[in-house]
Amino acid sequence: MGEVTEFDQAFIQDPEHRPTLSISEAEGIPLIDLSPVVLNSSDPSSSDEAVAEVVRQIGRACEQWGFFQVINHGVPLQLREKIFRTSKEFFAQPLEEKRKVRRSEESVCGYFDTELTKNVRDWKEVFDFIAEDPTIVPASPDPDEKDVIHWHNQWPQYPPHFRETCEEYIKEVEKLSLKLMDLIALSLGLPAKRFNNYFKDQTTFIRFNHYPPCPAPELALGVGRHKDGGALTVLAQDEVAGLQVKRKSDGEWIRVKPAPNAYIINVGDVIQVWSNDKYESVEHRVMVNSEKERFSIPFFFNPAHYTEVKPSEELINEQNPPKFRPYKWGQFLTHRKLTNFKKLNVENLQT
Ligand code: SIN
Ligand code: FE2
Repeated sequence: MGEVTEFDQAFIQDPEHRPTLSISEAEGIPLIDLSPVVLNSSDPSSSDEAVAEVVRQIGRACEQWGFFQVINHGVPLQLREKIFRTSKEFFAQPLEEKRKVRRSEESVCGYFDTELTKNVRDWKEVFDFIAEDPTIVPASPDPDEKDVIHWHNQWPQYPPHFRETCEEYIKEVEKLSLKLMDLIALSLGLPAKRFNNYFKDQTTFIRFNHYPPCPAPELALGVGRHKDGGALTVLAQDEVAGLQVKRKSDGEWIRVKPAPNAYIINVGDVIQVWSNDKYESVEHRVMVNSEKERFSIPFFFNPAHYTEVKPSEELINEQNPPKFRPYKWGQFLTHRKLTNFKKLNVENLQT
């Protein structure tokens, strides 16, 4: 990314998808205080009225927005600052250093200097790592499935303690994610631990995003419009705004104003299916700007590769028939990663 000197056609969005630079923030995504659940370490299924209120707020936010922010979430501020520092120090290195841990046929984890979203290049560079490192996640448990992607973490030499910091961070955000899953299950009228088993051999991964200043922020996007395919995304963003969410009520793009130390949570496609369409996975995108660089760290909380994703049986009845056919999470994930990887490889040969 650091080598891009003139504005490349591949980054230019079609006119209807270009960012709108002034956008209403009149009614932002809901901000939810998790202290009744986190600080008092209450069991979310307890009959505590404050906890029940958090569950109601989460249910409303998931239905109306598919997005919300949380504060008093229990992830230590110091650790969050440390992981942002680590990410900045990594990206500040020369390109050839970063390329030493570059994504390749051997692993889809590591560094990449761009990505395509809906076939347009994103104005960003990324570093991915997985929460559990099983080396290979088969596409599916079907013996006749040939596609396999290799996942293993590639840890850079610099900055020091990169790996330890990442591993420490994963543990904390995973705790928060499991709590959020409990609250979401309760908000659907299900037992708190309803979805827990799906995360035993999780395929969760974390991404460091770096959006450098962009010479043409009115033409390009940091990440083009998309929905998240996994269960839940738990995003830390810095103080530079950029994330926009498509408001369900009128389709308008709304800016997510950074709230200090908050996490932005959104429901992905998997929860949409588990909830049988009650909670929708909502489109979002990232604007860039010409002055400031921006950093963000999403945690993509994903089920085990062998999970069959389907509407929860308890939510299905004659009035509410299943709206989705079951699919295997691992197959979906492998297909998505492979497609993106192949496209990028072709592109890389050309540049
Ligand atoms: C994403 O949606 O993948 C990135 C979000 C962000 O950087 O704010
Ligand atoms: Fe996303």
